[in-house]
Amino acid sequence: MELDKDIQTTQRGFHCNLCIVNIPNRPSLEDHVKGKKHQHLLRLRAQRKAQEENSVFVSGFKPDTSQTDLKEYFAQFGPVSDVIMDKQKGVYAIVEFSEPQNAEAALAQLQHQLNGLKLRVKPRERKEFKLASRGKQDSKNPQICLDKLNYELCKATSVNEQMLKVVERFELKDNEKKVRDLLVQLLQEVFTEFFPDCQIVPFGSSVNTFGIHSCDLDLFLDLENTKVFQARAKSSEATGENQSEDCRSEDSILSDIDLSTATPAEVLELVAVILRKCVPGVHKVQTLSTARLPVVKFSHRELNLHGDITINNRLAVRNTRFLQLCSGIDSRLRPLVYTIRLWAKQKQLAGNLSGPGPLLNNYALTLLVIFYLQNRDPPVLPSVNQLKNMACEEEKCIIEEWDCTFPSQPFIVPPSKNTEDLCTLLFGFFTFYSKFDFSASVVSLRDGHVLPITDFLQSDEEVVKPSEASGPKPQRSSAPKLRPMNVLDPFELNHNVAGNINERTQKNFKRECCEAEKYCRSLQYQQKSTKGKSWGLVRLFAPPTEAGPRSQVDTEKIMEVSIPFKADVLPEPLRAQLALAGQGFRGLWFAKVCSAVHMVFHEVLKCSPLEETQTTAVCQNLDKADRDGNEMEVNNNQSVEDSVLKTGKKRPLAVDEDEGPSTSTVVQAKRQKLDADMEHPEPVHWTWTQRNCVWAGRRKVRRDLLKTSDETSKPEGGCVDIESRVTQSIVEKEEKLQDLLEFKVDAEVVGGNESTKVVLRFHPSHDTAGVFQDFFHFLKSFLPKMAETILGRAES
Ligand code: UTP
Repeated sequence: MELDKDIQTTQRGFHCNLCIVNIPNRPSLEDHVKGKKHQHLLRLRAQRKAQEENSVFVSGFKPDTSQTDLKEYFAQFGPVSDVIMDKQKGVYAIVEFSEPQNAEAALAQLQHQLNGLKLRVKPRERKEFKLASRGKQDSKNPQICLDKLNYELCKATSVNEQMLKVVERFELKDNEKKVRDLLVQLLQEVFTEFFPDCQIVPFGSSVNTFGIHSCDLDLFLDLENTKVFQARAKSSEATGENQSEDCRSEDSILSDIDLSTATPAEVLELVAVILRKCVPGVHKVQTLSTARLPVVKFSHRELNLHGDITINNRLAVRNTRFLQLCSGIDSRLRPLVYTIRLWAKQKQLAGNLSGPGPLLNNYALTLLVIFYLQNRDPPVLPSVNQLKNMACEEEKCIIEEWDCTFPSQPFIVPPSKNTEDLCTLLFGFFTFYSKFDFSASVVSLRDGHVLPITDFLQSDEEVVKPSEASGPKPQRSSAPKLRPMNVLDPFELNHNVAGNINERTQKNFKRECCEAEKYCRSLQYQQKSTKGKSWGLVRLFAPPTEAGPRSQVDTEKIMEVSIPFKADVLPEPLRAQLALAGQGFRGLWFAKVCSAVHMVFHEVLKCSPLEETQTTAVCQNLDKADRDGNEMEVNNNQSVEDSVLKTGKKRPLAVDEDEGPSTSTVVQAKRQKLDADMEHPEPVHWTWTQRNCVWAGRRKVRRDLLKTSDETSKPEGGCVDIESRVTQSIVEKEEKLQDLLEFKVDAEVVGGNESTKVVLRFHPSHDTAGVFQDFFHFLKSFLPKMAETILGRAES
């Protein structure tokens, strides 16, 4: 039997895409294809297709237009078999003819008019036929849900009202909260049987005031009291005393495990067994013991809930309390968070469906909203340090030596002087993050402002936990993981809650913020459409914009290569130097990048320099600032630096103490000038010539070269020596270009209001062979990788 297009072979047999079923073998497949269901769906699909071809989509009529009016009007093109109006009436209708030619005739007519209004008549959208789902599928289909929401939003009178509608549509209702409470109660009862005195504590979105209908139920199994219970039971056993009064320890699961020494994975294994065997309705139990916080996942069939159980997660319970407090302090936070969460989900920026992934988690996104509100002028929310100072003695809270003190009640916090409405605040959120230098800043809700990345560059050094002097002794712990986006947890100060974000997601986040910011400036955002068009939030929730804000034509005109600042790839000595440079770190990093870029052109790609006057001057300045202005140590990096500092003449590195006060004043003045250079370094310009097509066939040459050597393979751009030899090999084999390829490169460092990066702009000055585009195309990926490799070398 030949497979029809609806049948697909799979590893386990076949899959019918029409009926959405798996079929184990060929005889069953034959039965299935001849069967009632498959045949019925085939007929239905054919019927739908015919209906689509026979009908047209009509809009633009008056709201009181009836089906009969439309039927009578369209009868001029042929017999109308049906008119389907949209439920809310008055927005659109589908007019179905008996024959496809009638629909074609209606579409061919350029203008249609009914009751004095111009009608819009369009071909009907061709939808892929899908098996109609059973039951209340509407509520499960995100697109249908969003369409309905958008319809509701269009009816609102202001963006503020729209935002409140978003909350109303998504927030957990009382009955849903009750269902969650019931499950918590059930689990509490069952788990107490096995872990006496334990506590099941919900945290996360179910209780933090930002929950939505489908959100997970995050639970913390608190075994602290159980540990005490177990220790007591053990000591009474050892002393031969009677078992504890309630005799609970004997038959408890506790006899199998010692909670004081068991690993989290061992405890969670037990939790999984209890869930599987003893909790009615629970299924799909799965332990993830390798996660940052090991967790047991489960589902409840009847209650239709997914849950996570963690242990050792007291901080999460506390940060949940913090989010609740923030909601209580200012009522504008919830609508903002709900709206921004929905926006971020639609733009595929947040919401990893199956555990950690490269998108923002909801917690991180919520913290970004709070941080933004702390930075409004005047602030909408106070910083965590300010909150701490408002707490009383009884509210003091230290968890794992992190200071988690804040007031328990929102009314303690004075109301904000900020009176901006939701519409303005949402606009402001996009403006704030569209101009945010993520790669060079650390978001600190604790301080309520950004911290320079240089404060965190000495990563292997340790940071002091800022718990109060009177609290437990301050401890040292590792610094946060620096990544393209750095958002410090407000309490666990060495945890970057956006540590999973890769560069791509960070860039997408910024790009979408820029797009949203542009849109928010338009009247379509601010004012309700009088023509029934989508407006306000509706357009914000459209699918993501195409990657890259520039069109092909633009990118061809502006030949740019960017090298982003990535703290995590830099070697320890360089991080230490940058940390010392403080505000001037950009200047110093720029000098290092320029040296690396110079090395790529000169040594790796064998280009010859034509002019580099400015390079020399700027890098000399920066280099000097690096050496004496900041009293930094110069490593054996001369080879890289010298390739840029080609004049060769080095100035004295340190100021001679004996030189007297006059020299000292001069040095002081110079140092100020150098500091300024370091903060705002001048652009650098080079002119290079290239006589060989060192990019053409490069991969093959590289493969051949590596085949004959016993070097382990490194990715392209991963090793200076290999890449230089590849170029050499091409240069030796290939003919030189008849005419010179000459090009200029301007380099500058940007940052502050945008991500810190070095931007290199290319301009071909002689390209008679017309090869520069190819060369540039190659450089776009090769140059940043190669420069990163050079910067990443410990001696760089
Ligand atoms: P989620 O990111 O899942 O947030 O973290 P959420 O608000 O519950 O959103 P849903 O579940 O995706 O709808 C759940 C909780 O885990 C803790 C926080 O308490 C957060 O509320 N958490 C998460 C941390 O403590 N640190 C993290 O880095 C992430």
